[in-house]
Amino acid sequence: MRSDQSVNAIQWQDNRLRLLDQRKLPLQEQWLDISEVDSVVAAIRDMVVRGAPAIGITAAYGVVIAAKQRRQQDAYHWQQSLQQDFDALAASRPTAVNLFWALQQMKTALVNLSDEADPIDQLLAVAKDIHQQDRDGNRAMGDYGAKLIAGSLESVNLGSVRSESAKSVITHCNTGSLATGGYGTALGVIRSAWREGIIDRVYADETRPWWQGARLTAWELQKDQIDVTLIADSVAATLMAQGKIAWVIVGADRIAANGDAANKIGTYSLAVLARHHGVKFMVAAPTTTFDLSISSGAEIPIEQRGEEEVVSVNGQRMAPENVAVYNPVFDVTPADLIDAIVTEKGVVEKPTSRGIAQLMGATA
Ligand code: MRU
Repeated sequence: MRSDQSVNAIQWQDNRLRLLDQRKLPLQEQWLDISEVDSVVAAIRDMVVRGAPAIGITAAYGVVIAAKQRRQQDAYHWQQSLQQDFDALAASRPTAVNLFWALQQMKTALVNLSDEADPIDQLLAVAKDIHQQDRDGNRAMGDYGAKLIAGSLESVNLGSVRSESAKSVITHCNTGSLATGGYGTALGVIRSAWREGIIDRVYADETRPWWQGARLTAWELQKDQIDVTLIADSVAATLMAQGKIAWVIVGADRIAANGDAANKIGTYSLAVLARHHGVKFMVAAPTTTFDLSISSGAEIPIEQRGEEEVVSVNGQRMAPENVAVYNPVFDVTPADLIDAIVTEKGVVEKPTSRGIAQLMGATA
C-alpha cells in the first residue's frame, strides 16, 4: 500500500519557474517555463497553477522573477518599481489569503535585505523556504488529521446514520500535491490515513464547474494507488444516507478568526449534508490560510469567474446562448458546521474564535 507525494507541480530550475499546466491534466502533462512576472500573474489568474498554498508559493517565486527583471532595467531604483509587480500579483486572484501572506513575507524580506549577499539570491532563499515550509507542514497536518480520524472511528455517535463499518471519506476539489508545495492539505490527511490503513476508500467529488476533482484529485490518487471513486457532486447525499461515509475532508482558501472557512463552491452544501447525516466534517489547512484580520466569513471576498466555465465543457457549449450565469467559485462554511480544523500546528475541534486564537498564539 504505497502512499506518497507523486508530483512536484511547482519547481525552480535553472533560474526559472517551472509549472505543471493544470489546465491540461490529466490528458497531457505539459510544463511551462516562466521567466517574466507577467506570465506568473497570468498563470495564477488562468489556473495553470491553483490551490491556495500553491498560489502563494508561485507568487513568492514571482517576486524573485520580478526583482530580477527590475534590477536588469534599473540597478539603482529597482526596489521602488517592484511595488507594481506586488500589486499585479496581489490582483491575480482574490480569495486565497495564502497569496497575500506570501507577498507580505517577500515584502518583509525585501525591506530586510542585507548588503552581504546578492539580493536576488536572498529573495530566492525566502521563496524556497516558503515552499519547503508548506511541504513540511502538510506532513505534520497529515499526521494530526489521520490520528483524529482513527480516534473518531473507535466511537460512533448514537443517532448517526453512518454505519460502524464506515471507513470511507468524501473530498471536494483538489487539495493535493498539485494545490500545495507537496503532499497536500485535505489530501495530505487522506494520504496519511490511507497509509495507516485507517480509511478504505476516497470518494472524489468531480467539483463543477472546473472539474478539479475529476481531472486532478482522481489523477493524483490513482498515481498514489489510493482507492478512489469519482462521483458527481450531487451523489454525496446518497452515499451519506447509505452510511458509507465517516468523514468529509476538505481544504480552505481563507479561514476567518471565528472559524468560518471559504473553500471551493459546493463545500458548504457538503457540510450541511454531513451534519444532517451525522458525518464528521474536517477542514485541513495550514496556518497561512487563517486571516485573523476578519472576524467572520462574511468579510471573505468571493471570486466570481467567467460564464464560459459553466456553459461549456472543454470548449464545447452545453447551454443555450445568452443564458444568464452565476459563477461564484468559493463558498463559506460556517464554523458551527465544522467538527475540526486541522493545521500543521495542531487541531481545533468545534472551532471558535478562542480556540483559533490559542492555536495561532494570538488573543481572541
Ligand atoms: O479554484 P481553485 O482550484 O484554486 O480552488 C482550490 C480550492 O478550493 C482548494 O480546496 C483550496 O485552495 C485548498 S488547497 C490545499
